[in-house]
Amino acid sequence: MKKIHSIEDYESRIKRVLITEEELKEAIAKAGKLIDSYYDGRPILLVSILKGAFVFLADLCRAVSVPCEIGFMCAKSYYEGTVSTGVVKITMDLDQDISNYHVIIVEDIIDTGRTLNDIVKMLKARNPASLRVVTLLDKPSRRLVDFTADYSLFTIPDHFVIGYGLDCGEYFRNLPYIAEYGE
Ligand code: IMP
Ligand code: MG
Repeated sequence: MKKIHSIEDYESRIKRVLITEEELKEAIAKAGKLIDSYYDGRPILLVSILKGAFVFLADLCRAVSVPCEIGFMCAKSYYEGTVSTGVVKITMDLDQDISNYHVIIVEDIIDTGRTLNDIVKMLKARNPASLRVVTLLDKPSRRLVDFTADYSLFTIPDHFVIGYGLDCGEYFRNLPYIAEYGE
């Protein structure tokens, strides 16, 4: 990523809105209802993978009505510019014991699949009552390991995207929509 020089430069990198605020809102309301009907009153633990999934988690947790706890993990997938290097590191782990919990991992995007593949293996070993994965975005054309989420809100083509929690060089996470990034 080239260094941003001005507000005009910053704005010019937001190439095209792919998913609007309204579309996000509708899809998340639907996901919340599905979670409610699936868990049918049973308490759940929503585990968000930071940093990218923090906005999605904030909206998704307010769209569910079942008793709900929140947990955070921080995973860093190392990127060179907009390309993954394949190195995934857990930089902050959950602070609660998840055995006997109905856990839902809340992720922003599945790209190569490496991050979630590692995290799912790690959390399954801790004996949760159940473990499912919800992702806001899925880029199936980029998969390098065989991984499928239980629920994906939007399938997108192979573009590098920003906004609604997703960054490029730590910027753009605060955009209220999902956009295509370009230099
Ligand atoms: P994976 O391990 O390759 O599936 O990568 C997942 C992580 O890479 C996501 O949680 C994001 O943090 C990051 N990532 C992948 N694609 C994009 C993108 O298009 N925009 C911003 N971040 C991305
Ligand atoms: Mg992420």
